[in-house]
Amino acid sequence: MKGVILHGGVGTRLRPLTHTGPKQLIPVANKPISQYVLEDLVEAGVNEIAIVLGDIYPEKVKEYYGDGSKFGSKITYIIQDKPKGIAHAVGLCEKHVGNEPFVVYLGDNLIKGGIKSFVEDFKVSNHDTMILLCKVENPQRFGVAKFDENGKLISLVEKPKQPPSNYALTGIYFFKPVIFEMIEKLKPSWRGELEITEAIQLLLENGYNVGCQKVEGWWKDTGTPEDILEANRLILDELKPKIKGKIEDPNSIQGRVTIGENTTIKREALIRGPAIIGENTTIEENVYIGPYTSIGNNVTIKKGEIENSIIMDYCVIDVNDRIVDSIIAAHSKIISNPNNKPHGKRFILGERTYIEL
Ligand code: G1P
Repeated sequence: MKGVILHGGVGTRLRPLTHTGPKQLIPVANKPISQYVLEDLVEAGVNEIAIVLGDIYPEKVKEYYGDGSKFGSKITYIIQDKPKGIAHAVGLCEKHVGNEPFVVYLGDNLIKGGIKSFVEDFKVSNHDTMILLCKVENPQRFGVAKFDENGKLISLVEKPKQPPSNYALTGIYFFKPVIFEMIEKLKPSWRGELEITEAIQLLLENGYNVGCQKVEGWWKDTGTPEDILEANRLILDELKPKIKGKIEDPNSIQGRVTIGENTTIKREALIRGPAIIGENTTIEENVYIGPYTSIGNNVTIKKGEIENSIIMDYCVIDVNDRIVDSIIAAHSKIISNPNNKPHGKRFILGERTYIEL
């Protein structure tokens, strides 16, 4: 069985974070979202993987994953020139897939417990396609399944105004190569994309065997900053504590906390888990790091309190304030300067920055 990770898309709702890289490389609990995807595939025994790249810094993806050997996989990169939809991206993978069944995993999706059992089920089933469905509050945002009175899947519709159920299509699809025949028949949808939902609908209409399974645990599509913070909480909830750095006073650590090599937690700092702190980071005295916070590598927190937030690599924070529900990209600096004249807040911000004071 082969694998396909879709790593394109513009990430409009995640600007300005996506001004400097693809959304799938945004770290959640200090690991890019698409790395969870890759690891799920490898864990399920799917090692030959095509990554479909879009035009938002594709070279950063290649640089991070390389030939895949570091992750126990063999990666082929395929370029999608324009964001023409999931079905278009899948269509580009026909040569990579050959005659084998394959799994397509959107690089911005996360699922509890990985996909091993689903891969095994698909391998022994006689389904031409298998989809994973998850109950959601806001089905309008997704592809949605319709069932008959016996609970049998009868059709699929993309982003319906009047959803026929609360079951959304997750971005994890199991296909046999017959899907390529359906993709060829597609016309662009109202959003100008070739919709994979419509390709699967064509399979249903043509009498192919489309199986579906309902996801029991959590599933997250990380399209917005709120989604990213929620994904961070979900992953941190399962964090296995591991302390490698230097903790000056063991009382500074409460709950499940992971701390990387060469990181120093100074006396009188308090880290309350679940939280993860990367390598070569310094947390100074009296700093408070609260639950559901991920702090990257080479970060310095000199002063301040941080809760339910993601602070990426090489940031410096030195404030007399509490930072909450925030995502702060790499190399950012937030400092207090009481000597500012005239007195006031000072900002040097990139485009589409979001600030709440
Ligand atoms: C895509 C699919 C949709 C699916 C979703 C899952 O939506 O079109 O059917 O439910 O992924 O993440 P998009 O992210 O393109 O809006």
